[in-house]
Amino acid sequence: MKVVIEPKIKSLASPKVSEVLFHVGNVPIHGRSVLSPMAGVSDSPHRLLARSKGSAWSFTEFVAAEQINLGNPKAIRLFHHEPDEDPVWFQIFGNSVESITSAAQRIEPLNPKIIDLNMGCSVQRVSQGGSGAGLLKNLPLAGRMIESLCKNTSVPITAKIRIGWYNDILNYKETVHVLQESGVSAISVHGRTKEMAYTGSANWDVIAEIKSFANVPIFGNGDIDSVSLMQKRLRESKVDAVLIGRAAIGNPWIFSGIEKSSLSILEINEVAWNHYQAMKHFYDRDAFILFKKYFTKYFHDFEDYKKDKDAILRIRDEMEFEETWFSSLERYSQNFNLFLIQQKRPA
Ligand SMILES: Cc1cc2nc3c(=O)[nH]c(=O)nc-3n(C[C@H](O)[C@H](O)[C@H](O)COP(=O)(O)O)c2cc1C
Repeated sequence: MKVVIEPKIKSLASPKVSEVLFHVGNVPIHGRSVLSPMAGVSDSPHRLLARSKGSAWSFTEFVAAEQINLGNPKAIRLFHHEPDEDPVWFQIFGNSVESITSAAQRIEPLNPKIIDLNMGCSVQRVSQGGSGAGLLKNLPLAGRMIESLCKNTSVPITAKIRIGWYNDILNYKETVHVLQESGVSAISVHGRTKEMAYTGSANWDVIAEIKSFANVPIFGNGDIDSVSLMQKRLRESKVDAVLIGRAAIGNPWIFSGIEKSSLSILEINEVAWNHYQAMKHFYDRDAFILFKKYFTKYFHDFEDYKKDKDAILRIRDEMEFEETWFSSLERYSQNFNLFLIQQKRPA
């Protein structure tokens, strides 16, 4: 039996920012933080939720030009988006001028506001084939790809890069110059090299340096995990916006400028439940399997959840998943209230 807990909801809707802060090509941008593209994670329901909380635009996951050109329905489906996600940026990757140009032309009728070329993916099967971060080792090709995309499509073209391939040869200056000369309208910079993959820390000094000499909008990216760090990065690096990836999973409030630690478990649950419903609507069957990666992140701060985690992740039945969710929540929220009472009790 499903236990429905009526949450006491305070409005979490993000303040609508009407002021245009800057433009990317002809596209006006109203915010300074964005959900970073993440394959298998930043799908339509997730982007919609992030936008509703203040993410300034929506990046699709990256899609292979080859698959677009083959008309693979699974690949094309990744570009599905709702009107409220707009402005939507389609991200694509490839390793040849012809293939990337024809892919962009095929997806243009699906109404991207911007097309972004992935030049940062470090995964071997992508980068070793010369796509993604592989383009950092072949800047003349990257330049020709951008030029061709600008010439043969009618939307602004942007790129997402890393600061170099090798740890000891950071070629970000050359990369930014080549991209600018080829016609990009903005550049997102993940402050790691391809060799680092996800190890170490993003180099925000380099991101700030890029912002200081670039003549297109620059978006900084890497390791932002709180509202306070986001504000510090924006202030100190002076980038036009920041991209937030891993820390936004299970924490869309980061785009509203609300620290998740200030929210009650019921407020978190309400958003998690709505997110799950949106996924059920989008994916129909098996949404609960796909939702588990978000579920873990929504609740991982709660001690009680840590005890239940393995059992919840093992569930293979939708009804059982929902029942366990709600019965666990009842327990967590009782303990959470108890925790609050204990916190408030005078010593
Ligand atoms: C699961 C996962 C999938 C990702 N997929 C993409 C992608 O499709 N395109 C892209 O440009 N970056 C992708 N990234 C990189 C992120 O956009 C981002 O650059 C990186 O996670 C660093 O930001 P963060 O520290 O805020 O997570 C992915 C990252 C993760 C963790």
